[in-house]
Amino acid sequence: MTKTIGIVTSGGDAPGMNAAIRAVTRVAHLKGYQVIGFEHGWDGLLRNSFKKLTPRSVGGIIQLGGTILHTLRCPTFEEPGAVEKGAKTLSKNDVDGLVVIGGDGSFKGASSLSKVSNASMVGIPATIDNDVYGTDETIGFDTAVNTAVGAIDKIRDTAISHERIFIVEVMGRKRGFLALEVGICVGAEVILIPENPVKVDGILKVMEQNSKKGKKAGIIVAAEGIGDTSQLTKQIQNQTGAEVRLSILGYAQRGGSPTARSRLLASLFAEKAVELIVTGKGNKAVGLLEGEIASINLEEAAEKCKPIDLRLLDVADMLAT
Ligand code: F6P
Repeated sequence: MTKTIGIVTSGGDAPGMNAAIRAVTRVAHLKGYQVIGFEHGWDGLLRNSFKKLTPRSVGGIIQLGGTILHTLRCPTFEEPGAVEKGAKTLSKNDVDGLVVIGGDGSFKGASSLSKVSNASMVGIPATIDNDVYGTDETIGFDTAVNTAVGAIDKIRDTAISHERIFIVEVMGRKRGFLALEVGICVGAEVILIPENPVKVDGILKVMEQNSKKGKKAGIIVAAEGIGDTSQLTKQIQNQTGAEVRLSILGYAQRGGSPTARSRLLASLFAEKAVELIVTGKGNKAVGLLEGEIASINLEEAAEKCKPIDLRLLDVADMLAT
C-alpha cells in the first residue's frame, strides 16, 4: 500500500505557505508517498475534508500568497474529544505523517494530536509574527517585513513633506519581532513593542530631543500588541501640539507574493519535514538555527517562548540620532 503524508495549514496565513505545500508534495512523491491536503486548517481533520495533491496540482503556486488549502483559527480543536477525532481521520486515511504548517497555536494543536495519533507530526513554522520557538525565522516573516518597509518608506515622504509625526502600527498581537526589524529598516525614531513597555513620557522625551536637533518629521513604529495606538496618537498630539497621524498597515502585511527568502525557507523546511517523516523521526518542528535547517522536539517548539533581542532597540536608537 502506498504510504501517505498529510498536510494542513492552520492559523493566520503567511506568504510562503504555498511554496511549502508544493515542496512537501513534490519531495514526498519522489520518496514514494502520496499526499493529501486537509482543507481549512484543523477543521479539515474534524470533517475529513481533504484533496489529493500531486506534483502537477501544486504547479504554479510557489509565487502565490495565502494558502491553497485555506486556513482557519479553529478553537474547536481545543475542545474535549477534538484531537481524538482528528486522530481518527488520520488513521481512517492511513496517514503515516502529518506536516503542520503554521505558528505556535498550530504547533500546540499538532503536539496534542501527536499524543493520541500514531502518525508522525512535523511542524513547519509559518507566521509573519516570527514568534515560534526553535527557529530564527518563520516562513512569511521576510515578506511581511518587506511589505511594511515599502509602505513606511512611502509614509515617510508625507511625514517629511508635512513635517508630521506618524505612528505606524504593524502586526504582532503578542510579540514585537516584526516591529523591531521593520523599525530598524525604516530608521524609525521610536520602536514600540509589547516586550518593552514605554510610557508616553519616554516617547515625548525622544520627540523633544529630536525637535531640538532640528528633526521635524518622525516615524514611530508600534506593534499592535502595545495597546490602543489611536489613543496614543491623540495623547502625543495633545501634549506636543505637533501634527501626529496614525497609519495602521493591517492585513496587507499578511498577503502578497512571498519574497525569494520566504520561498527558499519554505522549500528547505519542507524538504527537511518530509525527510523526518520518511526516516521515522516524527514529532519534531523544523527551523533555521544558526544558519542551518534543523529540528527540535515539537512539544518544546509549541510550549516555549521565543526570546527577543532587546539590544536591537538600543541599536535602533543609536541609528536614529
Ligand atoms: O498571523 C498573526 C497575526 O498577524 C497577528 O499579528 C495578528 O494579531 C493576527 O494575526 C490577526 O489575525 P486574525 O484576524 O486572523 O486573528
